[in-house]
Amino acid sequence: MKIDKRDWMFVGLIVVVLGIFIGISGREKTRFVPKDAMHKIAYEAAYKNAPGADASLFKRVFFKPDKKGAEVLCEPCHLEKKVPFPPDHPSKNRCLFCHKLKQN
Ligand code: HEC
Ligand code: HEC
Repeated sequence: MKIDKRDWMFVGLIVVVLGIFIGISGREKTRFVPKDAMHKIAYEAAYKNAPGADASLFKRVFFKPDKKGAEVLCEPCHLEKKVPFPPDHPSKNRCLFCHKLKQN
């Protein structure tokens, strides 16, 4: 197959679109929820209904972690363990909106 100029323009366009996409996602700087022993219960709450490896592909693709179920745990424990919030910390009602769970 001969690759002509129009093909190269198409390839270039894809590269530009991908570049923008990666650039935007790289701007995500808020810290992730650490995946450590302390945060295990938060991950367990979020993934308690996770479909098993034998579930249908459909169920696995459309599974959403139970973020609200996990978020109720965050602040009580942080207060109890005296984890400081930065002084300019934004409104704290939906932790997992900003602090993402790490993927397995
Ligand atoms: C059982 C207690 C506990 C629960 C529940 C908990 N945390 Fe934490 N978290 C801690 C402690 C202690 C630290 C500080 C030490 C550390 O990083 O483990 C911390 C640290 C953090 C940090 C800072 C990490 C860093 O990189 O400095 C973030 C962000 C965080 N927690 C978010 C969350 C969110 C969001 C939730 C709810 C989904 C949550 N935590 C639930 C105890 C908890
Ligand atoms: C509107 C977005 C937003 C929400 C909602 C939010 N945070 Fe944050 N959080 C931030 C930003 C931005 C920072 C400062 C940058 C950073 O360190 O991630 C921060 C910092 C932190 C830190 C300090 C991290 C460090 O530097 O050690 C902790 C702990 C934390 N948040 C916990 C929580 C918890 C727990 C909740 C829910 C009760 C929550 N956050 C909700 C945006 C948010």
